[in-house]
Amino acid sequence: MKSVPKHVGIIMDGNGRWAEQRGKQRWQGHIAGAENIDNILYHAISLGVETLTVYALSLDNIEKRFDEEKQHLFRLFYSKLGYAKKKLNKEHIRLRFLGDLTKLPIHIQERADDVTLATSENNKGTLAIAMAYGGQNEIKRAVEKAYANSSDDFTKYLDSIDFPPLDLIIRTGVQDPTITRLSDFMLWQSAYAEIYSTPVYWPDFDCEEFNIAIHKFKESERKFGAVLAQRKDWGGF
Ligand code: FPP
Repeated sequence: MKSVPKHVGIIMDGNGRWAEQRGKQRWQGHIAGAENIDNILYHAISLGVETLTVYALSLDNIEKRFDEEKQHLFRLFYSKLGYAKKKLNKEHIRLRFLGDLTKLPIHIQERADDVTLATSENNKGTLAIAMAYGGQNEIKRAVEKAYANSSDDFTKYLDSIDFPPLDLIIRTGVQDPTITRLSDFMLWQSAYAEIYSTPVYWPDFDCEEFNIAIHKFKESERKFGAVLAQRKDWGGF
């Protein structure tokens, strides 16, 4: 059986439906979702996960969501990041951001920079928040930077340059878990990631649900493109 994944990415879907199911506003689902990040982060780190990357806002969300919902999300980011510094420093966890933050209001950019710097020396684990993020856009920005620096290795310029590759991606709120999608999430880093999808809405995805995903990951066989040459039952051609 494999060990705990080092890097877990979460596509936190289902906040809106969670809220609608309870007769609440969509933004109340985002508040519940933001609180759940804390629960899962500390639990994941306690299990041995080194990096947890959560997909909080895509570039497409910024372009296509109603202004009212975006304003609620921006307010939520701003207030959560205000509390985050003290809490993450207490737990020795560093915070990083992935994405084109220039697409966000300036006060959020400043707060993000401040927490990033204040937690940069922490070494018990990493929480990465992908906001104003798109996987294709991350690659495009990295290629442009590599070109500007006359480098032939664009991977050095990815937002997540110092992160291990993604081992496991969890997608919540999937209506039919037999068919799922990445929605432009960490396209380069997910090359050999296992993908676990569940109909459970993100605010309801608790530590027990996380344990199930980790258990499934441990059971799965990862070959990284190789043949199963070492398998005892494999007779060859
Ligand atoms: C997708 O659910 C979720 C989002 C677009 C936003 C996720 C954001 C948070 C959980 C808050 C994060 C906060 C911080 C501080 C990082 P959806 O709205 O698409 O849900 P639906 O599919 O049910 O409509």
